[in-house]
Amino acid sequence: MSDATAPDEAAGGVPAPGTAWPVGAVDLAAKLAQIREHWRPKVIAALNGQEVKLAKFEGEFPWHRHEHEDELFLGVAGEFRVEFRDRAEPVAPGRLVVVPRGVEHRVVAAREAAALLFEPAATRNTGDVEDPRYTAPTGVRI
Ligand code: NI
Repeated sequence: MSDATAPDEAAGGVPAPGTAWPVGAVDLAAKLAQIREHWRPKVIAALNGQEVKLAKFEGEFPWHRHEHEDELFLGVAGEFRVEFRDRAEPVAPGRLVVVPRGVEHRVVAAREAAALLFEPAATRNTGDVEDPRYTAPTGVRI
């Protein structure tokens, strides 16, 4: 992608209201190759107050819930589970799960996997849980 299509960095990377972002096509594989850590989502696009993020998973994430946000996970590489207290949903490339707001959940990946997330901007990855190891900064773009 050309830098010419990126939002104005001087404005904090926030596109102007009504501005589609990004302008150019996004190569998911190229973005994934830039991610070298697990559990820390990176923003790759934004629209309508929502963010599209990529994250790599490996291991077990803490149980948590998001009081105000529904959260979508679309598998893009490897296999993982979205676990609820009463069931687990397997996710692989081409499968997606929507976690309704208020519902406790966690992600478990036996081996490294990756997902595309779609949720309101600034949704905290650990929801109602503050965890020094897993809580990631929001709004980190790649
Ligand atoms: Ni969550």
